[in-house]
Amino acid sequence: MNKKTSLKDIAKKAGVSTATVSYVLSKKENSGISKQVSQKIRKIAKELHYRPNQIAKSLQSGKTFTLGLIVADISNPFFAHIARIIEDEAKKHRYSVIFGSSDENAAKSRDLIRLLANRQVDGFIIAPTKDSQKEIQLLKKQNIPFVLIDRHFPKIDTDYVGIDNHKAAYNATSRLIGTGNSKIGIIAYSTSLHHMQERIRGYRSALKEHDIAGEDTWIGKVDFLNVKEEVRGAMDRLLRGPQAVTAILFATNTLAAHGLKYIKESGIQVPEDLSVIAFDESDAFDFFYCPVTYVKQPLTKMGREAVKILTGRIADPEKPAQQLILDAKVIVRKSCETSATRLPIS
Ligand code: RIB
Repeated sequence: MNKKTSLKDIAKKAGVSTATVSYVLSKKENSGISKQVSQKIRKIAKELHYRPNQIAKSLQSGKTFTLGLIVADISNPFFAHIARIIEDEAKKHRYSVIFGSSDENAAKSRDLIRLLANRQVDGFIIAPTKDSQKEIQLLKKQNIPFVLIDRHFPKIDTDYVGIDNHKAAYNATSRLIGTGNSKIGIIAYSTSLHHMQERIRGYRSALKEHDIAGEDTWIGKVDFLNVKEEVRGAMDRLLRGPQAVTAILFATNTLAAHGLKYIKESGIQVPEDLSVIAFDESDAFDFFYCPVTYVKQPLTKMGREAVKILTGRIADPEKPAQQLILDAKVIVRKSCETSATRLPIS
């Protein structure tokens, strides 16, 4: 295996200095080098399969033109979709993206941030985990450009792109009330993360606004770990007993996917027995016999705006923090309807 071609190898073969080779290959205009010599150098570089040394280029420019994207789980369709949008938008700004999954774990998120910061990424797009406020504050102190996405910490002044989670959950719950449900449950993660708390608050606001005295038992909180069993337990609690619900709002795509599987296995009919609305689109919903009503987040706008805000921050570190709160939309399909002849689920 031959060693990697260097500038020195090209200079030796072309009979010029390494500085001349560097000028020509870095495409510096008006380098004062003749067209004939420039063409000769480029020809030799191609023949020797020369690849520029990115580290050397970065040291010279102070930039690596890479961004770090840290999300909860890159295999989750929501984050995979938004990651692709970010990747495409970053490319328009000449950036590449390095992805990492935090698994909603603050320590893992911290390690990823530090690893990528050591790799000199020019900035971060982060869906922060709970208990990662200190790490986010540290990025600010270190003047490392970043923008938070999907969830943020309202008490920390940072760039952020997300949806109005309270409004989205309020509208979804109001839709279930509008189709005739009065006993409505929500299944959400038991997390302090603001966006999840806001979804629960929006659900509660809708019940209150419609004079429905909600029951604490109607709120199924599950842990991010062991989510399948936790959702099944929450469904059992919401669908059994005297205060059983007739409608459920799932606060994320993953929770909905597990909930729909439970519904299918239990022989519960949607919407005849139970009305359902889910947050987020998911291919999994296409395998469910009843078209699922869902809260559609504006992922394209979220991803593109996050890149624009971050590249703006890289260009101007001193500019005031920018927070973009977008509206989500309830895509109404059959699953949120109800049935006049509904009987309690046995
Ligand atoms: O699993 C994706 C869901 O959790 C989305 O609703 C997104 O907001 C994330 O926080």
